[in-house]
Amino acid sequence: MSLKWWQTALFYQIYPRSFADGNGDGIGDFKGITEKLDYLKTLGVDALWLSPHFPSPNWDCGYDVSDYCGVAPEYGTLDEFKTFLHEAHAREIRVILDLVLNHTSDEHPWFLESKASRDNPKADWYVWQDTPPNNWQSCFDGDAWTYAPERNQYYYHYFMKQQPDLNWRNPAVKQAMWDAVRFWLDLGVDGYRLDAIGTIYEDPTLPSHSVPMNLAQLRREAELARTPEDHKRSRKNWHNMFKNQWGQPGLHELMKELRTILDEYEGDRMLVGEDDDIAYMGDGKDELHLVFNFPLMHTEFITPAHIRRNQAQRLARLEALPTRGWGCNTLGNHDCSRIRTRFGRGTNALELAKLNAALVLTLRGTPFLYNGEEIGMTDLLITDPTLLRDTMATWYYESAVNELKVPQAEAAHHAGQMSRDKNRTPHQWANSPNGGFSPAGITPWLPVNPNYAEGINVREQENDPASLLAYYKRLIHVRKQTPALIEGEYRPVQEKARTYFAFLRETPIQTVLVVLNYSARARTLRFSLEGFHTALPLFSTEPMKKEETLSKIHVAPYEVLLVELR
Ligand code: NOJ
Repeated sequence: MSLKWWQTALFYQIYPRSFADGNGDGIGDFKGITEKLDYLKTLGVDALWLSPHFPSPNWDCGYDVSDYCGVAPEYGTLDEFKTFLHEAHAREIRVILDLVLNHTSDEHPWFLESKASRDNPKADWYVWQDTPPNNWQSCFDGDAWTYAPERNQYYYHYFMKQQPDLNWRNPAVKQAMWDAVRFWLDLGVDGYRLDAIGTIYEDPTLPSHSVPMNLAQLRREAELARTPEDHKRSRKNWHNMFKNQWGQPGLHELMKELRTILDEYEGDRMLVGEDDDIAYMGDGKDELHLVFNFPLMHTEFITPAHIRRNQAQRLARLEALPTRGWGCNTLGNHDCSRIRTRFGRGTNALELAKLNAALVLTLRGTPFLYNGEEIGMTDLLITDPTLLRDTMATWYYESAVNELKVPQAEAAHHAGQMSRDKNRTPHQWANSPNGGFSPAGITPWLPVNPNYAEGINVREQENDPASLLAYYKRLIHVRKQTPALIEGEYRPVQEKARTYFAFLRETPIQTVLVVLNYSARARTLRFSLEGFHTALPLFSTEPMKKEETLSKIHVAPYEVLLVELR
């Protein structure tokens, strides 16, 4: 089987602001990332996804771009970017960038020109109306239409008002963005992660939604939901409020156009969409190479039944494409609570973190890790609203207090919880001031989680064979040495089991059985698989066993076990 690099690669998402502070100013940068490439290589990373590194006023931490062909000065210079890219490639690590298509920053020269008058050359590059034509909300900061006195008109924004939506129906917008796409491809980057593609087009008839609430009330409803019915109602209201503002016709044509550009380049440049809709893979080779399997992580608990259902649905849909599609699994990114916190269930958080890492690293499809998960970083709840940097949380705090009259302490707690700052804190490199991220005496852009002093840091884990970091390295190494774990078909076995998840990865010459015991109970499992009798241990969270027979496999509480079948 001949797979492309993006099918065999292990991806690792870097959040540039928080990864490594090379110049000691409290903010991550390219010098820092470049210095950590050997760390990433040793971990077993094959490809990096960088969250936006472009100049930005940072209303949405870089997802409000003010120059698509530049490097934010706090991250370094274009030359430093080139050095980073060169050094990554020298270590056979590919690099994909984040491409924000839906909107720019309101400080982007395109928008400054567009808003200056109604008849300038870029007047139609954004979405303008004389008066708000409907009751649409932005999903970040209330009304979706914001007044610009220069034009005496309103512009549309799906996200913050500092993130005006581009008018993608204007061909000049496409050309300008495609030029930027080519700029980085010409420099040698290996592809893009496409931000929020679903939001690119709106319903052109601009119909109002019918939910009798505004954004702050909708968020409050979600927060106060307790029963399954409450949650269902809240989800339905979310859907109905925004359904006219995303997933509209035109996207497939646009993705095809972008794909054509990528395909002009040598080296299998790739696109991964921030969306879980497999339809964005087109016929399997004319739109995106990958979309994320978000349904796997959009759950309160990861259970064997949830995983089986998820895999059955996803793999069947990928299979049904005219050219068979390839999956892409992840459990975390910069937008959601960290894996160890979210799926931790209190006392067994570390065991569950190991099981969930093993899940992503052994399922069929390309795995994406989020920086810090390999050392078990956890969420940091910031309850002082003045320390929040995620402006959508600040906006919510202020609306909750001023408009909804929620008591300040309660609003602050909720803002801390919904804020994505909690999962974006600086990487913990050592048990030293600022977790080794920035020098002592410097205040990093977000507080460092003090649990760097409790073993959650790279340096101590590098020296400890029992650490989570050592576990990731060992498992990633086994994955790389075991073809079935990369290219093998997926076949679930013992599908009724409620507390453990067992499945095969099979190629014509190798069969691997993976058992993930999601329970505190030890057990002896009996597998009857035609043609196979013995099990050769490849990997375990327990002391390595000798060969076992398939009719009697012992698994310890929360064990991760990989065996090759003979
Ligand atoms: C999705 C990104 O992952 C998120 O961080 C950002 O706020 C929105 N898109 C808007 O660009």
